[in-house]
Amino acid sequence: MKPVKVGLLGMGTVGSGTINVLHRNAEEIARRAGREIRISHAAAKEYNAEKIHGLDKIDKITDDAFEVVNNPDIDIVIELIGGYSPARELVLKAIENDKHVVTANKALIAKHGNEIFTAAQKKGVMVAFEAAVAGGIPIIKAIREGLAANQILWLAGIINGTGNFILTEMREEGRTFDDVLKEAQALGYAEADPTFDVEGIDAAHKLTILGSIAFGIPLQFDKTYTEGITTIERQDVFYADQLGYRIKHLGIARKTDKGIELRVHPTLIPERRLIANVNGVMNAVLVKGDAVGPTLYYGAGAGAEPTASAVIADVVDVARVLTTDPNNRVPHLAFQPNKLSDMSILPMEEVVTAYYLRMQAIDRPGVLADVTRILGAAGISIEAILQKEPDEGASHVPVIILTQRVREKFMNKAIKEIEALDSINDKIMRIRLETLT
Ligand code: HSE
Repeated sequence: MKPVKVGLLGMGTVGSGTINVLHRNAEEIARRAGREIRISHAAAKEYNAEKIHGLDKIDKITDDAFEVVNNPDIDIVIELIGGYSPARELVLKAIENDKHVVTANKALIAKHGNEIFTAAQKKGVMVAFEAAVAGGIPIIKAIREGLAANQILWLAGIINGTGNFILTEMREEGRTFDDVLKEAQALGYAEADPTFDVEGIDAAHKLTILGSIAFGIPLQFDKTYTEGITTIERQDVFYADQLGYRIKHLGIARKTDKGIELRVHPTLIPERRLIANVNGVMNAVLVKGDAVGPTLYYGAGAGAEPTASAVIADVVDVARVLTTDPNNRVPHLAFQPNKLSDMSILPMEEVVTAYYLRMQAIDRPGVLADVTRILGAAGISIEAILQKEPDEGASHVPVIILTQRVREKFMNKAIKEIEALDSINDKIMRIRLETLT
């Protein structure tokens, strides 16, 4: 059978990894795909030839990505440039030219996926994006295909390696935020703009995609609640530890009677959960299906070859179905396009969760009573309280409270009232808490 001809856009970290893995494992991959997979045209503004093996096998390397998507000999375009633009224009052009597309671009899919899938549907071509979520972990395949019998009840994932690396180092080594971030950048895990990692945008891109394939809803990145880890202090990591919890930056998608929760924020989770022990740059996604129960997927969420692993698996999938009827392929968002649901995304105020609260209280009688009175009046039940001894000479003491589950709007009101007490200094640190059962 004729080789499948691939056009590659981008030869940075993931692009180089993809060429290297395809070169190294060419024979095995061809046995799986049923045909040889050959990168015949590649585009990159710059690349490091010393780190790439098999460059001589690529027929042509250009700096004009549009030349590749307009090349009539190309069957599949792999987009590894990243970002919204020109990735969107390139992918749409490739589709217009009847090419299948494989991309690792989570930003592109989360924001422009609906438009891209509609265009692909019209043309009968595939757009595969396994590498866009959790790097090398085949989580899209697991949810879309492996769990197809289930109603997905909820999922919770550590889906940003940089953020997890920072929180892990803060807890285990007592290192500062900035120091660890610099290391993650040097290791090549962080986004080009690292605020995407620490402000939760990268995780929100990925969660948007997971939410859509779990619940069969259109991609709605703008409705995904997004909170980063920049406000987390070492003391919070320490107090959580003392109470038997770990702080993890989670993306959570849950189906409720009222709508779908899509939220990314730091979260206390019990330390005995497996996912609480996912450390460093590793990713993990916990998915609960009604039939299968909880399932956990763990692995490298970033890096050249782990991401290449997912990219190439998608290329193999495309190669295998090149001759299959387009209407019988796995749908982009797991559910048939005309069967997507219009269930609404819940505003954060309507989300029900438990909380960790840390406040600075004046060290005098009656202060705790005022705080608990406000919580009680708001219908908020206290699960645990921790009050540290004041530092010598200090007039304020840190008080940590874990609450039971409550609707976020009631907690917002209670926090406002507690912050207004003259016995409470500064803003209250609030971190949501999930038991993940
Ligand atoms: N910046 C991302 C991370 C890379 O740290 O997880 C993979 O998407």
